[in-house]
Amino acid sequence: ARRPLMAGNWKMNLNHFEANLLVQKLAAGLTEQQLTDVEVAVLPPFTDLRTVQTAVDGDKLQIEYGAQDISQHKSGAYTGEIAGSMLEKLGCTYVLAGHSERREYHNEDDAIVNAKVKAAFASNLTPILCVGEGLSVREANGHCAHCASQLDAGLAGLKPEQVKQIVVAYEPVWAIGTGKTATPEDAQEVCGELRARITEKYGDEVGNAVRILYGGSVKAANIAAIMAKPDVDGALIGGASLDAEEFASIVRFRE
Ligand code: 13P
Repeated sequence: ARRPLMAGNWKMNLNHFEANLLVQKLAAGLTEQQLTDVEVAVLPPFTDLRTVQTAVDGDKLQIEYGAQDISQHKSGAYTGEIAGSMLEKLGCTYVLAGHSERREYHNEDDAIVNAKVKAAFASNLTPILCVGEGLSVREANGHCAHCASQLDAGLAGLKPEQVKQIVVAYEPVWAIGTGKTATPEDAQEVCGELRARITEKYGDEVGNAVRILYGGSVKAANIAAIMAKPDVDGALIGGASLDAEEFASIVRFRE
């Protein structure tokens, strides 16, 4: 069985001081058993990563962490960018690739997202590949095809053993930060399609292993119904991950 993953994408919120408080509070609100049953990860801004590393290592917290972006380049004259090797050195486990806010505000197309996925693997990071359709595509009933095409492009050129490790996140753009959650059936429809596609291309073993998350207005009140769906293995949580108690109750979705 796939171990559920609850990943908190802080986006551009919380300075390093607040990051420390949140991580400590989150860990304190969960038992060792809960943190064994469900994997918990936080994805803070770059400037918080050293602080989160210190808190996690110093207090041996069972919390993983990672970054929200990665440069497609190894190093060099790329002002403002952060290399995968730097994230690896900070002990990061995960890195987001293809979040809709990067696609929209930073013009990241599928080729760049694919390059970032590869850059993540080159630095031993696990990419969380985000896909999702906007409202007009959903209304035209094009959501499954749209997400499948983003998935194919994001995974292009990867070896099956890399695809097996990857995390995919289905985040319908119309559900992000809007309070308008997809129904559990909507989430299952696309997550199921994505898994079927991975299975078709890479085989049963890979398809059964890969974890697929849902993201978009997830909160404690709606997580249980979403997690009840067979192809949803966790959530990518924005706003609700900024509140330690709310995030902890999401992690305790089974209780
Ligand atoms: P919200 O949970 O705030 O809707 O954000 C979802 C998201 O984009 C996580 O990456």
